[in-house]
Amino acid sequence: MTCFSFLCNRRLEVAKHSAELDELSGFDNVNLYSYKELRIATNGFSDINKIGEGGYGSVYKGKLKNGRMAAIKVLSSESRQGVKEFMTEIQVISDIEHENLVKLYGCCVEANQRILVYNYLENNSLAQTLLGGGHCSIQFSWQTRVKICIGVARGLAYLHVDVRPHVVHRDIKASNILLDKDLTPKISDFGMARLIPPNMTHVSTRVAGTIGYLAPEYAIGGQLTRKADVYGYGVLLIEIVSGRCNTDTRLPADEQYILERTWQLYERNKLVALVDTSLNGDFDAEQACRFLKIGLLCTQESPKLRPSMSTVVQMLTGEKDANENMISQPGLISDFMDLKVRSAPETKPDINSKSPNYTSYGFDDLKSSTLSLGTSSQATTTFASAHDRTV
Ligand SMILES: Nc1ncnc2c1ncn2[C@@H]1O[C@H](COP(=O)(O)OP(=O)(O)O)[C@@H](O)[C@H]1O
Ligand SMILES: [Mg+2]
Repeated sequence: MTCFSFLCNRRLEVAKHSAELDELSGFDNVNLYSYKELRIATNGFSDINKIGEGGYGSVYKGKLKNGRMAAIKVLSSESRQGVKEFMTEIQVISDIEHENLVKLYGCCVEANQRILVYNYLENNSLAQTLLGGGHCSIQFSWQTRVKICIGVARGLAYLHVDVRPHVVHRDIKASNILLDKDLTPKISDFGMARLIPPNMTHVSTRVAGTIGYLAPEYAIGGQLTRKADVYGYGVLLIEIVSGRCNTDTRLPADEQYILERTWQLYERNKLVALVDTSLNGDFDAEQACRFLKIGLLCTQESPKLRPSMSTVVQMLTGEKDANENMISQPGLISDFMDLKVRSAPETKPDINSKSPNYTSYGFDDLKSSTLSLGTSSQATTTFASAHDRTV
């Protein structure tokens, strides 16, 4: 009897294994790592090796068998798609190579594990270095900032234009801009929008850390297009020039939101006052103001008015004018700190609060909107077609 059940179990295991192998056939160009190799590389996924925790799961530093250092991202259990679906997306991401994009080495799909293996970047992210607030040994000179702004724009333009079908990143933010040993910027987490099942609730919870970068039409209406990435890039660009985070509640009320502040200074023709004081005046003022104006162009309320990322690259490098007549007020989701304290979900958007020309939403409204990103059929369609929508 015991022998019989052992044989049955063994047969089941073999059948399951060959079914898995079947599912993996056709993905020959994707590097597959065994769970064992990744376990050894990360010292048993030990806390010492853990370098971060994001909305998708935990990230570990590890040394692969070939001696290369890797960032190993263990996706949280909700993120676990079927093997075929997962591998189809991984294949797309694996094929994408650009100087300003983090390279995906491969993945592990053993049992129900879904693990991504990336090139490890030595100098961490812009969130932890330039905007980290604490001690940071890296000197972000003006020239370095210019290189980072242009590099990120080029990486994003590549995803938007050169990759077919194009990829909407969806999560452009300082913690997704990693720096290599020469401070060349590399965008990470592209393609994740397609890896995560659209009905995942964590999409709404993870949005909290990302909120300052979210285009209003995406945060409120779930409308995800390349122009939402352009908005996120615009916020990031202003952060890099000013050396501050998009939201800083320690500042006086009218300076807390970077876009509001940038617009105020733009109207008073004093944009230069926004440039990071830690540069001690050692920067090209004309170029810095141009970059800030490009940031404003990218974050305009109407997605149609925002330039494409290829145009942004040309404006940054000076090949094209940053047309000042075209700048209209930024679209802004403000009052979002209220989300944490208010609980009544009935609040209606208070369009008249603060500046009448801003789209100002109570955080409760935003909360219900972002929650619906993962559940409404409209939003589901939006996520599912993130590669294909065009503006
Ligand atoms: N390829 C990488 N090289 C070095 N560090 C990385 C890499 N990928 C991620 N990290 C670190 O892990 C942290 C968590 O990453 P992630 O899970 O993508 O969350 P988030 O992007 O929301 O911060 C990042 O902020 C970064 O510090
Ligand atoms: Mg990330």
